Amino acid sequence: MSRLHEALKKAEQQKTENGSPLDLERPTVIPGDGKGVAVLPPAELPSGAAELRVLLMERCSQSLWNPDRKMMLFFDRRNPVVGVEEFRTLRSHLSLIREQLPLQSLLVTSPLPSEGKTVVAANLAQVLVQQREQRVLLVDSDLRYSRMHLSLGASRSPGLSDYLSGAKDELAILQRGPLENLFFIAGGKAASNPTELIGNGRLRLLLRRLCPAFDWIIMDSPPVIPVSDAKLLAEYLDGVLIVVQSDATPHDLARKACQEFASKKIVGVVLNRVKPEYSYGSQYYATTPETKK
Ligand SMILES: Nc1ncnc2c1ncn2[C@@H]1O[C@H](COP(=O)(O)OP(=O)(O)O)[C@@H](O)[C@H]1O
Ligand SMILES: [Mg+2]
Repeated sequence: MSRLHEALKKAEQQKTENGSPLDLERPTVIPGDGKGVAVLPPAELPSGAAELRVLLMERCSQSLWNPDRKMMLFFDRRNPVVGVEEFRTLRSHLSLIREQLPLQSLLVTSPLPSEGKTVVAANLAQVLVQQREQRVLLVDSDLRYSRMHLSLGASRSPGLSDYLSGAKDELAILQRGPLENLFFIAGGKAASNPTELIGNGRLRLLLRRLCPAFDWIIMDSPPVIPVSDAKLLAEYLDGVLIVVQSDATPHDLARKACQEFASKKIVGVVLNRVKPEYSYGSQYYATTPETKK
């Protein structure tokens, strides 16, 4: 019997023994010509939350980021900046919802490009870590147009695409900047097959393994109307926050974007770029569990 047949037979036996054909923690190894991409086994991570947190603090050294301080509102505490108060209000609303519903991971999305998803996701993560003992993981899961690293002044890779393709493990893709308790996973190397990467099962594994260490996981995403990635991503997460741009997002597209998600997943809508005469920056409308019935 050829080596390939032996490997396939072994894989089939493993499948029957494990009862699961897609066991990403024990990948099936098929011998070949060595030209394929090797899928790294997951890092050795403790399962307990406290041990995992200690390990992440030890292994992810802090680096100097160079954030865009005009848009990233919480890196410089010297001046009260327009918009800070609105993000505190958003934090309060989410905390209230969390008292009634399980809400640890949140997708930030919007109907169209350039409506403020990245700005809202990044500032939301920053305002959450202003609270004592709140650990936040911010993930750039817009694999088509990764830009979060530019707003933070952090490295683009290794990042999420490198993990999903199997080239890097969890510890290799986590970054820490100057804000205590804020961890970041950048988009990673440009990928030609983002939807396939998001759906290949490694994202679920990543979230399952890192969730115990964090109080919040905030994921930035591509827009809902042109591509299907956000809808796919939402299946792995507890809630969805929709960003719409004041005086710009067409009403019918906002409605259509909301309809792409199960209504119980949508935890609120952020109205971004509100004119200063009406507000300080952005407004937040919560959909409370009561109003969703
Ligand atoms: N509230 C805001 N005030 C001013 N500029 C904003 C605001 N929100 C977003 N922007 C700017 O709009 C552009 C698009 O924002 P971004 O968050 O990258 O959008 P998206 O992620 O939805 O594509 C960026 O140049 C960003 O700096
Ligand atoms: Mg963006």
